[in-house]
Amino acid sequence: MTSRPIRAERFAPLTARAAQGLSNVTQVTEPDDVMNTAAPNKFLATLDGVAQAAPPLWLMRQAGRYLPEYRQIRATAASFLDFCYTPKLAVEATLQPIRRFGFDAAILFSDILVIPDALGQTVGFETGEGPRLTPIVTRADFEALRDNLDMDRIGKVLETVGLVRAALPQETALIGFCGAPWTVATYMIAGRGTPDQAPTRRFAYEQPVLFQAIIDRLVDVSSDYLVRQLRAGAQAVQIFDSWSGVLPVAQFERWCLAPVRAIIEKVRMQEPHARIIAFPRGGTSHLHQFAAIPGLRGLGLDTAVDPLWAAATLPASVTLQGNLDPIAILTGGRGLDEGVDRIIEAFAGRPHIFNLGHGILPETPIAHVEQLLRRVRGA
Ligand code: CP3
Repeated sequence: MTSRPIRAERFAPLTARAAQGLSNVTQVTEPDDVMNTAAPNKFLATLDGVAQAAPPLWLMRQAGRYLPEYRQIRATAASFLDFCYTPKLAVEATLQPIRRFGFDAAILFSDILVIPDALGQTVGFETGEGPRLTPIVTRADFEALRDNLDMDRIGKVLETVGLVRAALPQETALIGFCGAPWTVATYMIAGRGTPDQAPTRRFAYEQPVLFQAIIDRLVDVSSDYLVRQLRAGAQAVQIFDSWSGVLPVAQFERWCLAPVRAIIEKVRMQEPHARIIAFPRGGTSHLHQFAAIPGLRGLGLDTAVDPLWAAATLPASVTLQGNLDPIAILTGGRGLDEGVDRIIEAFAGRPHIFNLGHGILPETPIAHVEQLLRRVRGA
């Protein structure tokens, strides 16, 4: 496989096998809201619907603890949030994996929990234990929050976005992000990560009016935040819905799907060409509903989604992203190569961005990331 630059050779939608036989560069969709020729790099062109000979590649959590150079600069900050709000450090953390591996996209170094922090909730990260927030229990707790983002904090993140974009070569895209309202709310209400999000599910049943108000606040500030990231230099944004897989269908539609749809609508009212990826983790049956959201360009698939099923049944109007098991890259060897091959073959001929099915694990050896890159790029 070669990775020559994309060109807009156009064919009608093809099966993966037929596309492979015809050409190694195939346009399978033609969204009317983006200009393919405007895409300055392979990641963005793929998001705009142009399939590549070898898919562009980035990894969720690509900046972080598996990199010795990250651990080194992380040790210089007093806290994780200080790290996120110090542009010099956050820029460096964003660029580290690009320098080392030349991924096709950089993802802003920050966290989904800067949003509750910038709304005035107390947020901290305990080393080795994860996030700790002062939980929202009553209406008074909610009313004590700000109704817009504290720009003294968010301004630092936006400054990072601008500096990163200026430092990146054209061929590397910059992805901004936020958490989906449901996922962020699970931390705001439980005050920490929980295995099954039971505290928040219970809260939503017991206090639906108050929970709706929390979700609505998150929709408003998250769409504002994404628009600001796009204007500061992010070329695509991803909405992480890490906990969307736990809800029964009616709750899923109300607390996950509708808020994400509302964010996408609000962002695209202000930034009509915004490239937006959703990553709903867990709950394969929800993928068709996400894929049908107007204005969605990319859909992230988690580890458990069968790539052959996804390639065959999800609409060609969305670019699929994923979905190698993070444990396969942790362990390396033949399992890694086979996992990569299966994914590449399944998505051949349709726009596909290679990624993991969830974030890279801190114990992952650097050599396995290099093995992955060679395998994906066909080198
Ligand atoms: O490289 C990147 O992907 C960009 C940075 C990024 C981080 N978190 C850095 C981080 C991104 C995109 C996130 C998203 C995020 N944060 C999600 C959604 C994706 C997912 O993993 O499901 C969630 C649920 C969070 C909340 C969060 N942040 C948790 C639960 C934790 C603790 C658990 C852990 O992995 O340590 C964090 C901390 C965090 N966010 C770290 C990093 C690099 C580790 C903290 C440190 O370095 O001290």
